[in-house]
Amino acid sequence: MSGQNKNLVPFWERAYQEDDVTAFSEEPNAAVTEFEHLLPKQANVLEAGCGEGQNAIYLAKQGHCVDAFDLSEHGIAKLKRKSETVHAKVNAFTADLTAYQFTQNYDLILCFGTLHFVSKNDWKQFLVNAKAHTNTGGIHIMQIFTDTVPASEDIAPFAVGLAKDEEIKELYADWEVLQFKSYVFEDEHPNVPKHLHASNKIVARRVK
Ligand SMILES: C[S@@+](CC[C@H](N)C(=O)[O-])C[C@H]1O[C@@H](n2cnc3c(N)ncnc32)[C@H](O)[C@@H]1O
Repeated sequence: MSGQNKNLVPFWERAYQEDDVTAFSEEPNAAVTEFEHLLPKQANVLEAGCGEGQNAIYLAKQGHCVDAFDLSEHGIAKLKRKSETVHAKVNAFTADLTAYQFTQNYDLILCFGTLHFVSKNDWKQFLVNAKAHTNTGGIHIMQIFTDTVPASEDIAPFAVGLAKDEEIKELYADWEVLQFKSYVFEDEHPNVPKHLHASNKIVARRVK
């Protein structure tokens, strides 16, 4: 979302400022619970675009060492409040994935619902860098919206990098793809009417 009209504020920013409203989900993403058994104990984990932190906090509670960042100061502040409440240790900080400098390797890198908010060049470069900073045997779980259906009104001003269907798969041609899903789903958020999103989700493992 860097570089776009600063007067537009996405709907989740308000939810990040309210502790009695959940922006997206209280639960970790289904792919996290489905594939966490592949992780070593105390795995090094990075979540990009973590929002208020349902995945990061869950993984920290499982004993993993979790770094998590988001562009939103309100999102990171809420993540910190939530993680303190449940005594989960997450290294959470604000950062822009388009400028993110990796300083270590990870066993798991995940990103849900965020890559399409930066340009296609930027999300592809982030994935190239993330792959290079993944341990052999490490996992990526990435979910991105596609242009199979038009961007809904709530995200249209921000969705500058929608993928083509299956485009993200090309980035993982040299990894083992453990799961790939292409689907359209109905969505609803506080103060936003029902709408559709088209999505690709990929779970891939670095084999060498
Ligand atoms: C739709 S929300 C998803 C949040 C979280 N991944 C989840 O599933 O609940 C998109 C998130 O991407 C973050 N975001 C947008 N552009 C970003 C960027 N350039 N770098 C890091 N985070 C970004 C937003 O602040 C927001 O928290």
